[in-house]
Amino acid sequence: MSDYYADKLAGLQDIFGTAALTLEQDWLQVGERRYPIVDDVIVLLDEEQYPPALRDRLGLSPAKRALRGEAFAADIQSTFGNEWKIFREILPEHETEFRNYFDLVDTEALGGLRICDLGCGIGRWSFFLKDKCRELVLVDFSEAIFVARGNLQDCPRALFFMGDLKALPFRPGFADFLFCLGVLHHLPTDALEEVRNLKKYANALLIYLYYALDNRPAHFRWLLALVTAVRLITARIRNRTFRAAFTWLVACFVYAPLIWLGHLLDPVGLSRYVPLHVDYKGKSLGRIQQDVYDRFFTRIEQRFARDQVAALTDTYPDVVISGHGPYWHFLCTNGGVKNDGLIAAASGPPAREVVEKPATETIARRQQRRGLRSAATIGLLLFSFAFLMLITNVPTGLTAEDIVVFEKDLDLKVLPHPQSFEDEIRTIRLIQARVFAKAPHGAPIPEYEPREPSDLVRLQRGWCYDRSRTLDKAFTYLGFETRHVYLLYRKDLSLFASLFRRGHPSHAVTEVMTSKGWLYVDSNQTWIALDRDGKPHGAGGIWKHFNQFDGAPEYVRGPWWAIRGLYSRKGAFYAPYFPLPQLNWQDFLKWVFVEKLTTP
Ligand SMILES: C[S@@+](CC[C@H](N)C(=O)[O-])C[C@H]1O[C@@H](n2cnc3c(N)ncnc32)[C@H](O)[C@@H]1O
Repeated sequence: MSDYYADKLAGLQDIFGTAALTLEQDWLQVGERRYPIVDDVIVLLDEEQYPPALRDRLGLSPAKRALRGEAFAADIQSTFGNEWKIFREILPEHETEFRNYFDLVDTEALGGLRICDLGCGIGRWSFFLKDKCRELVLVDFSEAIFVARGNLQDCPRALFFMGDLKALPFRPGFADFLFCLGVLHHLPTDALEEVRNLKKYANALLIYLYYALDNRPAHFRWLLALVTAVRLITARIRNRTFRAAFTWLVACFVYAPLIWLGHLLDPVGLSRYVPLHVDYKGKSLGRIQQDVYDRFFTRIEQRFARDQVAALTDTYPDVVISGHGPYWHFLCTNGGVKNDGLIAAASGPPAREVVEKPATETIARRQQRRGLRSAATIGLLLFSFAFLMLITNVPTGLTAEDIVVFEKDLDLKVLPHPQSFEDEIRTIRLIQARVFAKAPHGAPIPEYEPREPSDLVRLQRGWCYDRSRTLDKAFTYLGFETRHVYLLYRKDLSLFASLFRRGHPSHAVTEVMTSKGWLYVDSNQTWIALDRDGKPHGAGGIWKHFNQFDGAPEYVRGPWWAIRGLYSRKGAFYAPYFPLPQLNWQDFLKWVFVEKLTTP
């Protein structure tokens, strides 16, 4: 018998609404149906709905075809499965968010109740309820449920189900209180209808659905339309490196600057006109990335206005919509003594309240003013983005000073233009050797000091990131297409965490385009990535082919992420030393949007 569920048999019988239940070590039989138990998670899905990793664990062959159709969104299942594997941690700021979501609920009154967390993800809200209730039922249809299991290790009162919320085999009224936060708007069916359908499972339900920005200035909705257009493209891209790079980029260069702008405008009372500021102020970059991933890689996203939510009174006698964010979260109850005690003093007006409408003339004038303010804010935002890109951009063009160094110090003027691949390789090796001769190993050029070719030659020393800058430019001087590559070693951390961890091992090199493709040119040893067959390799996967190279330095074993166009993670290498990642935006965006998009 399953060790974990052995003492929960009565609870399971009550949830399924039948005593005809047999529990074994690896499965639970309910009536005719047998559900596997994997890592304490009871799998309710039909076999063709199993995500790939679960199929693997159960020793099943891969699904023959991808599930398609209205009812079950397999792509959403996979997106969330991956999202929650990356963002698996419960962060300190989640506790504040929990309090915001549960402002309508008296959590102290949950003591004797069975609570269901529907679409639980990593179980971050259940985590804060685990000591406040009798029993927790967590349900999610993606592999996130295994992460939730890990996060609730110390909660013996929790039951875990991998199941589709639209097809739960549970009895009506199985839960005393059910919450479903940020889930239904990702379903392929109408989310409000689904709220109505959930009525059968509990007497009191706390729901969060994305709002239609109906309580925000008009420019918020214009920006949303733009974001939606981008999302419809990005959600199709499954490439993990793309998703990681895009999430990081948007968190750093869209969300963070807007939050920062909101801070600046706070003292003069204008921060409410800045999108994202109110929702994200005080949150860590990791937490922001979690939401960016959610926002840009989920194909389905429905949004609702307050009035639409209020219309749920056609099904629930009581609908109370919180007057505070996240918008809209609301409590639907069927009334009755049992759930009366659950409801905390409502902080927003009840949904049924009729709000008096202002005169039409006033509305027109107000809209005109809003329009002007919106246009001004968008202008300001675009200007801020352009400004940030400008000050974090690392130019790759040659200066007059560079040309003097290449012609006088490195003697490159006399080199003939390569005519064949062999010629190219000879030239590349020669340039590499000359740069090494001028600046052999030694101390790095200190942070916040210039590291252009003239500085390297003058100081006659440098580290990989110093020499590779000179190599980049020297190859450009000889007419090669060249790009800078930042190699971030893969350790136990995700790409995001590694990018922001001080001292995380990294390396900087150059890639040169030869007539046979990109070639990695090292900046610590006079080594280039030509394999035994004489084929050039770019920085991306050379560590995967380590054994095919002669004389490869040990550090080339990787593994690493190769980020094209990134020069510094914290803005310490190139003036004006603004404390944000420094990139050559053209190379970076070309790599992300052209190369990554066209590579499966
Ligand atoms: C945005 S996440 C929110 C997770 C969690 N409620 C939270 O707020 O942290 C949406 C979750 O709903 C789950 N989900 C989406 N459709 C579902 C369905 N049909 N049945 C069960 N879970 C579903 C996803 O797997 C995902 O973990």
